Amino acid sequence: MNRHGIFSAGCTLLLAFGLASTAVAGAASAPKIHWKSERITLPTSDLTFTGPGGQVLNTYCLMCHSADFVNEQPAVSLVTWKVEVNKMKNAFGAPIPEDQIDHIAEVLYQRFGPPKP
Ligand code: HEC
Repeated sequence: MNRHGIFSAGCTLLLAFGLASTAVAGAASAPKIHWKSERITLPTSDLTFTGPGGQVLNTYCLMCHSADFVNEQPAVSLVTWKVEVNKMKNAFGAPIPEDQIDHIAEVLYQRFGPPKP
């Protein structure tokens, strides 16, 4: 999330600078502006979940953080995933239906595999 924040702040600065310099130049001699297209490649990020169970995670987990954020967490036991999903619901207010909690925990456990010893 921070990466995006920094990036858009950079864009805003560039834009502001561009407008300011155009205004100054315009006042002096009104030069003709030639716009040209630039092609840039933005950094990619795993914003969504893919693969088995990805759909239910995309439905209930992406309103607050990216898939990347979840995927970077360590593997934990099924019980701990249940605690984690309940925490998202009860502590952070994720609108996860009660009858989906076990299923989501199972999906997460299958994706991450058993915890490393
Ligand atoms: C309502 C917002 C919200 C939703 C929806 C949500 N989370 Fe979270 N999640 C959070 C917040 C807030 C944190 C804490 C972030 C931090 O500590 O920087 C967090 C942290 C986490 C963590 C890191 C461990 C921890 O406990 O801090 C995991 C793993 C996680 N969420 C998984 C999920 C999964 C899986 C889903 C979908 C089933 C989900 N979250 C849905 C808000 C949410």
